[in-house]
Amino acid sequence: MNKLKNGELWKDTEGNPIHAHGGHILKKDNYYYWYGEDRRDNIYVSCYRSKDLVNWEFRNHILTTDSKMEEYRVRTVCKLINEDGKKVNLERPKVLYNKSTNTFVLWTHYENGNDYTDAACAVATCDTPDGDFTYHGHFNPFGYMSRDCTLYQDKDDVAYFISAARDNGDLHVYRLSEDYLNIDKLVHRLWQGEYREAPAVVEKEGVYYLLSSFCTGWYPNQGKYASSKGIEEDWSSLQEFGDETTYHSQPSFILKTYDDQFLYFGDRWNADHYFESGYVALPLKLEGENVEMSFYDSVQLDDTQVITFK
Ligand code: GAL
Repeated sequence: MNKLKNGELWKDTEGNPIHAHGGHILKKDNYYYWYGEDRRDNIYVSCYRSKDLVNWEFRNHILTTDSKMEEYRVRTVCKLINEDGKKVNLERPKVLYNKSTNTFVLWTHYENGNDYTDAACAVATCDTPDGDFTYHGHFNPFGYMSRDCTLYQDKDDVAYFISAARDNGDLHVYRLSEDYLNIDKLVHRLWQGEYREAPAVVEKEGVYYLLSSFCTGWYPNQGKYASSKGIEEDWSSLQEFGDETTYHSQPSFILKTYDDQFLYFGDRWNADHYFESGYVALPLKLEGENVEMSFYDSVQLDDTQVITFK
């Protein structure tokens, strides 16, 4: 395959739909590992991998209702099935690799499967990128609500967890502990009352960009971004990027490719039929404090197998 159509539900190398929504890509050993929500059957998170970002090989259902559970030093609730015998809800999973512990650490948004009142984050780990992850349970960071979320690994391997707090009213930025298994410090409460969701961070030439959406459930809205000289530094006010529906998508993550392209990945949610939701990938133009994003119909591989947009 050498082409993915933006907005469609992309297929893996076996021809099956890719179930990796609200996801994240981790670069490891020349592969791109794509993790995301898979709501089928007893599955929570699935992992695919690719060398070219177009051909995706299914690897594993890394987190399911049968995942091994293990408590750790942080007091959490370890529950992957709720009181009614139903699945809980794990959304927007993100994975980082911790060099010092040689562990892949997953953070995700947790809800109880009936409503969105738990507003918690959950952690899972594995010693390989696409093995069976061990679930360590959910908690509210410093007691705060925590919904749409992302992880970001800074240059010096300091990592951050960013999530929507106070019923999505504010966006919190937390520095993680060195092993990425707990929250160390609340470093920012950003854009109070602006209801930012779907955060995604990238850095280029010392400028950090945080992209996000407004809070309109499954329906798309005008994407906005802010810039900063560092995650813990002051952030600018919110500016618009893309069009009034972010080309009918909501951010899932931003990828800096192995060949230094900056790509926006988003979900094109289907509010009535979740399983028909598609994907959008678009190049980001990052210059100084500006972010620009235009729409292209498809993601293609050129003759040298490099990704291009047409
Ligand atoms: C969106 C959020 C999605 C999902 C959805 C449910 O705002 O970004 O991840 O939680 O709401 O309505």
